Amino acid sequence: MTRIAIFASGSGSNAERITTYFADKESVSVEMFLSNNPIAGIIERGRRLGIPTVLFDKKTFSKTNKIVNLLQNQQIDLVILAGFLWLIPENLVRAFPNKIINIHPALLPKYGGKGMWGHFVHEAVVEAGEIESGITIHFVNENYDEGKVIFQAKCEVDSTDTPDEVARKVQALEHVHFPEVIEKIIANM
Ligand code: GAR
Repeated sequence: MTRIAIFASGSGSNAERITTYFADKESVSVEMFLSNNPIAGIIERGRRLGIPTVLFDKKTFSKTNKIVNLLQNQQIDLVILAGFLWLIPENLVRAFPNKIINIHPALLPKYGGKGMWGHFVHEAVVEAGEIESGITIHFVNENYDEGKVIFQAKCEVDSTDTPDEVARKVQALEHVHFPEVIEKIIANM
């Protein structure tokens, strides 16, 4: 059994997709959601899906071992970042080497780094006149959006697309591919 923990700071639509994808698969279990944001959509999703959801503050996350201890006590094998916005501290990266996976809503190395998240990414893509965007699923290290790339998928950006339209195309790719890529990673663990 592979036990997953999902971190999310916002709506949590990817967290929900991953949870429902694995719900009827006996070898994988989404054990918990974790969030820094008490008003994030992920909280309500956790309640509805029956997934225990843990809230934490910046100091607990960045300056203590509490989250690492919690994940280890829950025997978590794989950590998924699904729209989680804080930098992952070194103690967490070290405790889960190549076992923390992030999704980024652009084709890294373009449009990555601190402050590049959610709509800021899609605004930058439109502003630059890009003709394509997409998703990147990658391992997490101590720097924003720099770990080894596992998977990318592309979508077209039309010259008339607004950032919201690009966001919709990118999110559609995320919902299709993220659970399947996680399943493949687990198969190779
Ligand atoms: C997703 O598009 C994800 O790629 C992005 O946040 C969104 C979360 O959506 N992550 C980042 O921007 C990280 N830099 P969701 O809460 O509906 O899953």
